[in-house]
Amino acid sequence: MEKIMVSNKVISKLNEQVLHEANASQSYLAMAIWADNKSLDGIAAFFYEQSQEEREHMLKIIKFINEVNGKVIVPKLNAPIATYDSIKDALVQSLKNENHVTSSINELTSLALDEKDHASYNFLQWFVEEQLEEEQQFQFLIDRINMIGEEGLSIHAIDKLMGKLAVSSEIKDED
Ligand code: FEO
Repeated sequence: MEKIMVSNKVISKLNEQVLHEANASQSYLAMAIWADNKSLDGIAAFFYEQSQEEREHMLKIIKFINEVNGKVIVPKLNAPIATYDSIKDALVQSLKNENHVTSSINELTSLALDEKDHASYNFLQWFVEEQLEEEQQFQFLIDRINMIGEEGLSIHAIDKLMGKLAVSSEIKDED
């Protein structure tokens, strides 16, 4: 198949984005394991799925770089934070991470426009929308915890709610 060329500056930024998505995946994996250890099955399922989604985001970018004849750099990952004071703490950390990813997607999209790289600009629109959804989802969960707390019966309500969000999204747990 004939390959198309895009801006080298954009390719370099796309590789940075591969790293951000991979770090996000690791961070959610750590949250899933933390919740799993506490037998919070719904919260664990939610974060395992988030981790899987971020890996898919990473792969989506890797495939795009390959398609346009760029060179993919396999990212070296940071060790994620692995313990949290509470569910809310993990969710606030998640929202902070997503805010950071959104900023880098926005910078990348602006760069693609500056470089008149419309192929990359078009590709990135999916990520712009996805970030909006993810930030809204974490904000919703934080608001819910602020409303009902996370002690006693409330923790089960949150566990159930997050488990339901995991089951109702596109990526299903295989077992
Ligand atoms: Fe793919 Fe939520 O960053």
